[in-house]
Order: sequence, then structure tokens, then C-alpha cells
Amino acid sequence: MSEANRNISILCIGAGYVGGPTMAVIASKCPDVKVTVVDINPERIARWNSDHLPIYEPGLDDVVRSARGRNLFFGTDIVAGIQEADIIFVSVNTPTKMFGTGNGMAADLQYWEKTARQIRECARTPKIVVEKSTLPVKTAQAMKRILDAGNHQNRFTVLSNPEFLAEGSAVNDLENPDRVLIGSDATSEGLAARKKLVDIYARWVSRDRILTTNIWSSELSKLVSNAFLAQRISSINAISALCEKTDADISEVSKAVGMDSRLGSKFLNASIGFGGSCFKKDILNLVYLCRYYNLHEVADYWEGVVRINEYQKERFVVNMLGNMFQTLSGKKICLLGFAFKAHTGDTRESPGIFIARRLMEEQAELIVTDPEAIENARQDLAGAQGNIRYTEDPYEAADGSDAIALITEWPQYASLDFERIFRSMVQPAFIFDGRNILDHQRLYEIGFNVFPIGKPALTHFHDEPDMTA
Ligand SMILES: NC(=O)c1ccc[n+]([C@@H]2O[C@H](COP(=O)([O-])OP(=O)(O)OC[C@H]3O[C@@H](n4cnc5c(N)ncnc54)[C@H](O)[C@@H]3O)[C@@H](O)[C@H]2O)c1
Repeated sequence: MSEANRNISILCIGAGYVGGPTMAVIASKCPDVKVTVVDINPERIARWNSDHLPIYEPGLDDVVRSARGRNLFFGTDIVAGIQEADIIFVSVNTPTKMFGTGNGMAADLQYWEKTARQIRECARTPKIVVEKSTLPVKTAQAMKRILDAGNHQNRFTVLSNPEFLAEGSAVNDLENPDRVLIGSDATSEGLAARKKLVDIYARWVSRDRILTTNIWSSELSKLVSNAFLAQRISSINAISALCEKTDADISEVSKAVGMDSRLGSKFLNASIGFGGSCFKKDILNLVYLCRYYNLHEVADYWEGVVRINEYQKERFVVNMLGNMFQTLSGKKICLLGFAFKAHTGDTRESPGIFIARRLMEEQAELIVTDPEAIENARQDLAGAQGNIRYTEDPYEAADGSDAIALITEWPQYASLDFERIFRSMVQPAFIFDGRNILDHQRLYEIGFNVFPIGKPALTHFHDEPDMTA
């Protein structure tokens, strides 16, 4: 570590799923660096200062506890934070814009721009401003323009340092990243700032995993990484639909495909589709960018990834409807899991939201269960018309239901006592496994009618299941 990095002060604006864990890990790895995380949401900050953190991430409690009060601080005084800091990470949310030009496609940069202006107004000394949020290409340049506008003798140097952590494994991803990406200008200020940030990460990440690029490559690489990951899910999900028509088995196909060392086996599980706050918004961002540059064929190509994802969720509901005798009206359906993936309580863009709403449109009654996401599920479905109950207990959720729809791949769901569950359900009992994590043959033997994704259904009906679905 260079001496210059001793006693530096870091501020992170935005205490969300990225800002909180990222800064907690920096603070735990660099005890001599003061790390302050601020947010406009005082309740969120209060939770970061409590024993009940605002987000669930395996291992996060311990990391926060080890550094909080020593060199990790959570607060709401953004102005003081800006004035004190040498390096400011901006980790505010950048959702899809839902109005005006770019409605439903472009990034909504209002939170990010307010932050840039606030940094400009409050700073009294030169700052390194690090773009941590995922932003469209050339945003760092726009940020620099805002920071440099007016008569400000303070110099701001903007870096792009996109975050690649995955929710559910954030602490491990931050402690052992595949790579850390830092984009900068090739000016002497840019290179010096980049070196400062590299030296921080180099405390625990080997230097050959710290990539440095120009700013635009860094911004674009983040969007492209998410687009490629989502594309794999949509690719296998598209094939799952074909498997259901041809009696091929998607697990066998994905194993055979994934054993090709050029492809690899990750992100090849068929499911009800991807969720989370990032994939859809980042692909739409990429699509918008391509359309802006008149690259319509490229835009159409990537938009297809999102379209298949929507199709897969709708297909799941239509399949339930078709196989439950074309009516769900008044039937009780247990949603087993609600988070967008296992090991997180995050439900943003969870397929569960779409599926729950569609099932309610069909007048089904819902019982939602999840070990970490009930609080968020209640908020997501608040105001939805229909009868919904919530419980953390999966047995209580399944009791008296006509069907179970497995939404989240929580590993504990694979080892539930399905004989007990079967006995407590209305007959004939149905299971729709939206993640293919259950033992389908065993469920069939217990008596369930089992509908996996991308493989033949196992039913006790003697006539053909309704394949019009
Ligand atoms: N969630 C992920 O897994 C993930 C992974 C990589 C990158 N990202 C990117 O990181 C960024 C942040 O994502 P997130 O999931 O942490 O979002 P989030 O919504 O959980 O957190 C953002 C926080 O910023 C705060 N905020 C908004 N405006 C502010 C302002 N003007 N001043 C201070 N605080 C403000 C909000 O109150 C919120 O707490 C996004 O661009 C996202 O695409 C997210």
C-alpha cells in the first residue's frame, strides 16, 4: 500500500444493497481508512446502525459488526460527509425512467444528478468521485461536466468503478472478486486518482484481478456483463419451452450444453425467469443506447432477452391455469418463496410479483411464504385486488391449498416434509416447480401432480394433461 493512502477518508452516498456491503468490506479490509456511508433515507440509516440491518446478506452482520464504530459509520449528514471525504463513491439508485423521453427504457438519472450537484455545492477541497452505480455509457463525462460547471476552483476527478457483486453472495463476491474494474481518463489527474483507488482494492485483491480501462469501456462492461448473464438465462428458458413440447428434458440438455468448456455450466438453469433490480434495467439501458445510435438490429437483439423473460413468467401462469382445469377462481395457491433469488430478501423485479398479480387476476387466493422476503412481499403486493395472506412457515402456507408454485430456489424448500404437506392440501394436489429444485419423481410417488419447467409433467390423470396451455 502506498503511504498516501493512509488516513484517507471515504464517503459513500447511497446506503443500499451495493453501498452498504461494499463499504462494510472496504472498512473491514482497511482499518486505517475512515469509511462513512450516508443516505437521504433516515430509517435505512437507523437500520444500518442497529442489530437488524436493512438488507439480508449471508455474512454481512459479522462484517458490519467488526468495523462499525471503529472506521465504518452510517449517517445522514451528507454535506459534512462530502466536505470531509477524499474519495466519494456514488451508489444511489438508477432505476428505469418511467416518464417522458426514454419512458420504460432509459436510466432515470435524477438521483444521480442531484448527488453530483450536491457534491459540487458542498465540496471545499479536491475530490475523487467514483461512479459505483450502474450507469449508461458517457455518464461519467456528464458528471464531470456538472462538477466542473461554474466558478469552482476545486478539482474533481471522476472514476468509473462498477460493482459486480451478486445479491445473496455479496460479501464473498466483495472479498474474493473475479475482477475489480476501474475506468479513468488518461490525464495525469485521472491516472493518479485511479492509482489511489487501485491501492485501496489491492489491500485484499491481487493486482492481476484489478483491471484498469478507459471510462467508457468500464461503464459499458458493466452493462454488457449483465446483458450476457441475463442472455444465458433467457436462452435456456427459451429452450425449456421447446423441451415441454418435445419431451426433451431441460436438465439433461443444460448439462450436456454446459459441459462444453467453451460455455461452462453456470447460469444454465431453466426457471420462471430472472429478476432483481439490475438485469432488466441494464439491458433496457443498453437497448436505449443502441437505439440512440441508430443501431436498431443490435437493440432488437438484446431486447429479445427481456421479451423471453416476460414470456417465461406468463407461460408459467398459463401452464398453471391450463393444468388446473382452466380455472383458478377461488383456488388457494401457495407461493413457496418470493425473493427474486435465494439468500436474499430482495424482491425487486421478482418473477413472484408478476406471477402473484396474474394469479389474482384469475381470482386465485394466495398464501405467500419466504424466509427473508415477507416484509418486501407485503409492500410489493399492497393494493393488489384479492385475497393474500403471508407467513414465514411453509407448512402453514401450504395447508389447505390446491397448488404450490415454487418461486424461489431456497435450498431448505427441497427438504421440506412433502408427505405432510400433501396430506394438508386439497386433492388433487399440484406442484409447479418454477426452479426445478425439487425431487419430482418422489413428489409424484407421494401423490402430487408435478409440473417442472422444461421437462415432462408427472401426473396421476389418466387422460393427457391439457397441453393447450
Ligand atoms: N443490487 C445489486 O445487486 C447491484 C449490483 C451491482 C450494481 N448495482 C447498481 O448499484 C446502484 C445502486 O443499487 P442498489 O441496489 O444499492 O440500490 P438501492 O435502492 O438499494 O440503494 C440506493 C440508495 O441510494 C439512496 N439515495 C438516492 N438518492 C440519494 C441522494 N440524493 N443522496 C443520498 N442517498 C440517496 C436511496 O435512499 C437508497 O437507499 C444501481 O445503479 C445498481 O444498478 C446494484
